[in-house]
Amino acid sequence: MGRLSVDLCGIELDNPVIPASGTFGYGYEFADLYDINILGTFSFKGTTKEPRFGNPTPRIAECASGMLNSVGLQNPGAEKVVSEELPRLKKVFGKKVMANVSGFSVEEYVETCRILDGQEQVGWIEVNVSCPNVHGGGMSFGTDARAAAEVTAKVKAATEKPIIIKLSPNVTDIVPIARACEDAGADGISLINTLLGMRIDLKTRKPVLKNVTGGLSGPAVFPVALRMVYQTAKAVKIPVVGMGGVASAEDVLEMMLAGATAVEVGAANLVNPYACRDIIRDLPAAMDKYGIKTLKEIR
Ligand code: FUM
Repeated sequence: MGRLSVDLCGIELDNPVIPASGTFGYGYEFADLYDINILGTFSFKGTTKEPRFGNPTPRIAECASGMLNSVGLQNPGAEKVVSEELPRLKKVFGKKVMANVSGFSVEEYVETCRILDGQEQVGWIEVNVSCPNVHGGGMSFGTDARAAAEVTAKVKAATEKPIIIKLSPNVTDIVPIARACEDAGADGISLINTLLGMRIDLKTRKPVLKNVTGGLSGPAVFPVALRMVYQTAKAVKIPVVGMGGVASAEDVLEMMLAGATAVEVGAANLVNPYACRDIIRDLPAAMDKYGIKTLKEIR
C-alpha cells in the first residue's frame, strides 16, 4: 500500500484521483495522451438504458472561473456500452471502472444497473440522481429524500456491486438526503453534481444555452462543494467521494480534510486533458509541503 492509496467501498485505489463522469468519455479516448492506468479509477459518461442524443446546441457556455453545460446525458445506451465501449476500454485500462448510471424512472435505473452489474470490469456503480439537464428524471430523484432512498434501495437489490449515489447541490439541506440514501443501503455518496445556472446573450437577448439553464462546474463551485462534502461526511458513516471544481493537488488535500475518501476531477479535464495526470504527479510534493505522510491519515 502506497502513501497515496485509499480504500473505496472495499476496493483499493492506488490514489484518490478519479476523472468525473462526463469529462472523460469512456476512458480510452484519453489513452493516446497518457497511460490512464495511473488513475485511481474513472467514472464513465452517464449511461441510460436507451441511447440518447442529448439536448440541442448550444449546450456549453463559458463563465468566470467555470462553465455551464446542458449536454442532456448524450450516450450510446447501456447495451452498446457493454458491447462496444467496455471492450475498447479493457484493451487500455487494467483496473476497475466506475459505471455512472442515469434514468428517467426507478425501473430504468434498475434495468441499467442490472445490465452493467454483469460486467467484470465495473467496480462500482455511481447512480446519478442529480443531472440538472433533463426533465422528469435525474435531479428530480436527488432533491427529494424519499425518491433518492427509493432509487437506492431498488438499485441496491439489483446489483452485487458497491452503489455510490451521486447527489445534487441544488437543495437546501443535503444531510437528510444523504442519510436517507445511507439508510436505504448505499455503499457511498458522491457529490457535488453541477449547480443550476443560466446566462443571457446581450446581443440576442436570449439565453446562451438552447436548454435555457445548465449546470455550473469549475473552480467557481469549489467552496460550495467543499462545504457540502464536509456536511455530508459528518452526517454519514459510508465513504464520501468529493468533487466540484477540483483542479490541483492542494484541492484534493482540502477535499480529503473535509472528509472525502476519494476525489473526482471534472471540468479541469476539459481545460487540460492532462489535469488528472498532473494532479497525481503533484500530490507527493504537496503532501510533503504540508507534513502529510499518507492520505489515509488526514481524512
Ligand atoms: O447533461 C449531462 O449530460 C450532465 C449530467 C450531469 O450533470 O449529471
